[in-house]
Amino acid sequence: MAPDLREQAWDLLNRARLSFEGHDIGVLASTDDAHPELNYGHCFVRDFALCAPAFLLRGETDIVRRFLAAILHLQAQEEVFEAFRPHKGLMPASFRPEKLHGWPMLEGDYGEESIARVTPVDSVFWWLLTLRAYTRATGDRELARMEEFQRSIRLILELTLQGTFEIFPTLLVPEGSFMIDRRLGVYGHPLEVQALFFASLRAATELLDDGGEWLDRSQERLRNLEHHIVRYYWLNHAGLEELRTQPRDRYGEDAANVFNVFHESIPEWVDAWIPEDGGYFVGNVGPGRMDFRFFAQGNLLAISTGLSDPEHNRRLMRVYEEHWDELVGATPLRIVYPALEGEAWRAITGADEKNRPWAYHNGGSWPCLLWSFATATIACGRQDLLERAVAAAEERLEADAWPEYYDGLHDPRPGAGSRRFQSWSAGAYLYAKACLEDASVADLYRWEPNVQPERAERRHTRTGAPEAGAGESRAGSRQGGVEPE
Ligand code: GLC
Repeated sequence: MAPDLREQAWDLLNRARLSFEGHDIGVLASTDDAHPELNYGHCFVRDFALCAPAFLLRGETDIVRRFLAAILHLQAQEEVFEAFRPHKGLMPASFRPEKLHGWPMLEGDYGEESIARVTPVDSVFWWLLTLRAYTRATGDRELARMEEFQRSIRLILELTLQGTFEIFPTLLVPEGSFMIDRRLGVYGHPLEVQALFFASLRAATELLDDGGEWLDRSQERLRNLEHHIVRYYWLNHAGLEELRTQPRDRYGEDAANVFNVFHESIPEWVDAWIPEDGGYFVGNVGPGRMDFRFFAQGNLLAISTGLSDPEHNRRLMRVYEEHWDELVGATPLRIVYPALEGEAWRAITGADEKNRPWAYHNGGSWPCLLWSFATATIACGRQDLLERAVAAAEERLEADAWPEYYDGLHDPRPGAGSRRFQSWSAGAYLYAKACLEDASVADLYRWEPNVQPERAERRHTRTGAPEAGAGESRAGSRQGGVEPE
């Protein structure tokens, strides 16, 4: 019987508490001080978001409320037309207490100091998810109703719903601008961020106090985003077949191979890897590009946010069952499968040693992903899978000193550059344990599927907006729809 590690996880989180003016406002990313020159002594927004449920469930709501307020005050407020300053609405990747002329203040890092200067696209989304979880856990709607919180939500919507050069409902994101914050070929329209965006729009529609234009815009974008992701990212055997047979280089509205993906780009592993009754959302779709890699966070978030429907979910769980050793294994869970190797690794990662094949972001395993796995498996009624994953984690977490990540495909070891005593590894573990004890805990991060009742085929008009019920029923118009059994 594996030991109950909750006490240890709490010891870790307690040591990581970050205090400001006498109150806790978050946790350090890690309390392993082997590398003080790095920023693990900051509180990261995405990391604390995964620790927040542990605090909320223990009734420590104050730390979460103060964290939310701190980030809100660090949100960039001004329209700037100057490079090198965060754009209005942006929230920092991380923050730390500092002194300015002797006065205590919080200093946010929006990417100006981070390795490779990557700007976080995802902080605004994690903040919204945390605000929603806080509201659900405490029943306190007053916080979100405060004018400064409402304004903050509107600023996030303004930032993320604004016009770009693209005519897609997905969000265009730069390389390394989210949990995967080094080069890995994840620029463009990565599923990981689109699923977070979807979750956040759902959260915003719940948290916005009045109706009005931002609510309407969010709902419209949700509709279009759902349609786009389900239609173009979902892949199963039927979809692969269509990809292979659809004509390329077609102009006009009737083009079935909308993104002009060449079947020669389908990697060899895909066919045999997808179980007959399985399917998953591919990592990225754009002009002439389908990234076939399986990204855990995006797929799991698609389930918990109701982006996918029960049939997708069943098929996704089949993928996990079929590939348990590769995707979960002894050190749950693998962040992406497969790894980039050889020339692809050199060209795409920039020969990044930390991201060598099956290491770190490039196919390493991250205990913090227990958070996403917990919500998704509960949403699918697959507590059995969660139990297995948690039991595996319990065999290793203590002995390995709560590592940030593991390297290796078959015999994973704590990563070469992995911090020990990583806060979100402990936070995610505590949340997964709580979900196993009481499935309703997952409601903090869950939505019912089918936000849009009508999943009729739509087609892109000249302006890119899908038209409800606009035909397209001909065979081969989908790139991987859910097939009837
Ligand atoms: C690394 C991870 C990032 C995380 C940060 C703090 O930079 O790539 O996702 O937020 O460490 O733990």
